[in-house]
Amino acid sequence: MGVINLAELKPGMALAEDLRDRNGRFLLAKGTRLTLKHLRILKIWGVIEVNIEGISQKNVESNTGAQIDPAIMETAEKEIRERFVHTDLDHPATRELFRLCTLRKAEELDITDSEAKLEHHDSYERNMDANEILEDTTTEMSPLEFIRDDISLSTLPDIFIRIKETINDPKSSARDIAEAISKDTNISAKLLKLVNSAFYGFPSKIDTISRAVAIVGTKHLSILTFGIYIINAFKNISWDLIDMKSFWEHSIVCGTIARILASHKNIQNTERLFVAGLLHDIGRLVFYNSTSINARNIILKARNSHSLLYEIEHEIMNFDHTELGKLILKKWKLPMSLENIVKYHHYPMLSNDPLEPAIVHLSDIMTNALDMGSSGERFVPPLDQDAWTCIGLSPNILSLTIKQMEHQVRELVKFLVSDER
Ligand SMILES: [Fe+2]
Ligand SMILES: [Fe+2]
Repeated sequence: MGVINLAELKPGMALAEDLRDRNGRFLLAKGTRLTLKHLRILKIWGVIEVNIEGISQKNVESNTGAQIDPAIMETAEKEIRERFVHTDLDHPATRELFRLCTLRKAEELDITDSEAKLEHHDSYERNMDANEILEDTTTEMSPLEFIRDDISLSTLPDIFIRIKETINDPKSSARDIAEAISKDTNISAKLLKLVNSAFYGFPSKIDTISRAVAIVGTKHLSILTFGIYIINAFKNISWDLIDMKSFWEHSIVCGTIARILASHKNIQNTERLFVAGLLHDIGRLVFYNSTSINARNIILKARNSHSLLYEIEHEIMNFDHTELGKLILKKWKLPMSLENIVKYHHYPMLSNDPLEPAIVHLSDIMTNALDMGSSGERFVPPLDQDAWTCIGLSPNILSLTIKQMEHQVRELVKFLVSDER
């Protein structure tokens, strides 16, 4: 028998022992042969791993990298180690993340041309010349002055405001909300694609917004509408500094991981965590959009000194993108809980309510480690050990979460960021 992650289970496998949930509640009997329906239900029950008959643990583990050429493993480890330079590899969660990322990189190098990968890796570092002379970037501007300065980011389209008002109005019915959302065909199409995607994994097709409202719930759907709206409103802003597709990929992956981790913690309304992940680095857009500061210099300075970007933001500005993010969410009148998560995602334990900021903190670290998109940061930020303790999950959750995330985001980035309907 061998313990297999949920994502690797296949119909026909038989349970080697009785299956119980994390509270010890009996779920399925030893010997049960798993069906597709079981696999769906196990996901809903939050089962992480299952002991399966007829598979040795050795075989399960040998599936994890032993067959990759040691020279490729070494190249992968070297590259990943550079990205993890600011982390503590003695911490069990960081060590596990390092192991998973090394394996993933080795698998990539094993099947694709490494030069093509390197090209991809640098794609978000647009027009960056490491030898460029740095100007003095210090500024006395306050975070509020930055937000006031930024008209394009701080002003939301009218239709967004109308939808938000309908959603926030306690007198609005599900039908009013569906009607308000349906007026924007682009957003409606994206919402329908989202609720029909692997993100939800509903077995039957949901073809109208009113049905989506009924099935997903107004609260969940409203927060998703916020998220989709914001991506839509800001996806075509062009900067020479950052590729917006890469920025939103980082944000969508972070949000998806946060939503999965929240479900493992039995948090209600996990869509809120998805949107918090989507918006966690939105303050960076204010920096990149600002004419009052040379954001290129901030990025270059971080790069040349091998420092974390948010530390250099602090050094130059006396505040960082988390402060700007919080202010912009306040301006958009989004819920306080979202402001709290965005403000504390790099320092979750400073929050009075640290669990959700800690989840996005871990999600951001995982997203940077996986190198999926970028908001400008080159390194994996360090994991706050107290935040990890606060989350209270086992390092085993990381591999399952990454597999679930990959399954869910496969199409998500494409249809949320692209113009197709
Ligand atoms: Fe950040
Ligand atoms: Fe981030």
